[in-house]
Amino acid sequence: MPRELGDKVIVITGASSGIGAATAFECARAGMKVVLNARRLEQLQEVASGVRHVGSEAHLVVGDVTEPGISGRMIDAAQEQFGRLDAVFANAGYGYQRAAVDLGRDDLRRIFDVNFFAAVDLLQEAARRLIAQNRGGHLLMCSSCLAKFTLPQNSAYSATKAAQSHVCAAMRIELAPRAIYVSSVHPVTTATEFFEVSRRLSGGGTAQGSVPGHTPKWFVQSPQRVARAVVKCLRRPRPEVWTSFTVRAVAGVMTVFPSFADLILRQAQKKDRKGM
Ligand SMILES: NC(=O)c1ccc[n+]([C@@H]2O[C@H](COP(=O)([O-])OP(=O)(O)OC[C@H]3O[C@@H](n4cnc5c(N)ncnc54)[C@H](OP(=O)(O)O)[C@@H]3O)[C@@H](O)[C@H]2O)c1
Repeated sequence: MPRELGDKVIVITGASSGIGAATAFECARAGMKVVLNARRLEQLQEVASGVRHVGSEAHLVVGDVTEPGISGRMIDAAQEQFGRLDAVFANAGYGYQRAAVDLGRDDLRRIFDVNFFAAVDLLQEAARRLIAQNRGGHLLMCSSCLAKFTLPQNSAYSATKAAQSHVCAAMRIELAPRAIYVSSVHPVTTATEFFEVSRRLSGGGTAQGSVPGHTPKWFVQSPQRVARAVVKCLRRPRPEVWTSFTVRAVAGVMTVFPSFADLILRQAQKKDRKGM
């Protein structure tokens, strides 16, 4: 039986754009009340008014996910504003492209603080409250297909995403006796602000267009597609959410045959360099 989502409450980080904003709308359409977090107030207010437009309720907790105590504040907001907590989606994150040899310690620390430590903090805080409520619940984290394999220039980002995915896998087993389900979400290239942010942080300026120019159009997905998959998972919990069977299969092949993966990636890197 699918789970009924009407009047359930979810906390979503990184909800001011992209996958987080689309998930907020999709959850609201399914009848859920949402607590939304990000740093940009104006964008969050727009998302909240979209949520209200479809007949649901939204509460905002503005701030950086790395602020001490912010996970607790988001969960307090869910319980105080809406009387309960049922799910969290730790989605806030970013990436940049840099060769591993050039990664500075501060850059590495910052990306781990946002993508990994803050996401784990939210899941831990939510797990403690859900255990206390004794009603079960669902914890989700936005990882990536790049949790399962990596690409040149993406070592730092992939490392954070792989780390997220392992924490989810272990927590899922640990929390199963409490009826708390844990899922990791593994989007492929999704048309969001992610690539503009990445270009800026990688020293590539603020070029227009939301995805890298060489990405085939057929490969690029919409944030709404990821959001629908997340809501499907909230209804019927599953360990991992994927929106591309092909990429999931490629990830499997790359894991089993790492020399073959290296060969393909070296060829791609050569092509990229020639194209530069
Ligand atoms: N786009 C893709 O191709 C892709 C593929 C796989 C996985 N993902 C993952 O999907 C998740 C969402 O990314 P997206 O594609 O939707 O990109 P996006 O449109 O850039 O959204 C990122 C969100 O995270 C928020 N955020 C970033 N740093 C934050 C911080 N320190 N504190 C609070 N909020 C923060 C941003 O809001 P503010 O700037 O307002 O704070 C924004 O709402 C990320 O975890 C990303 O790694 C994306």
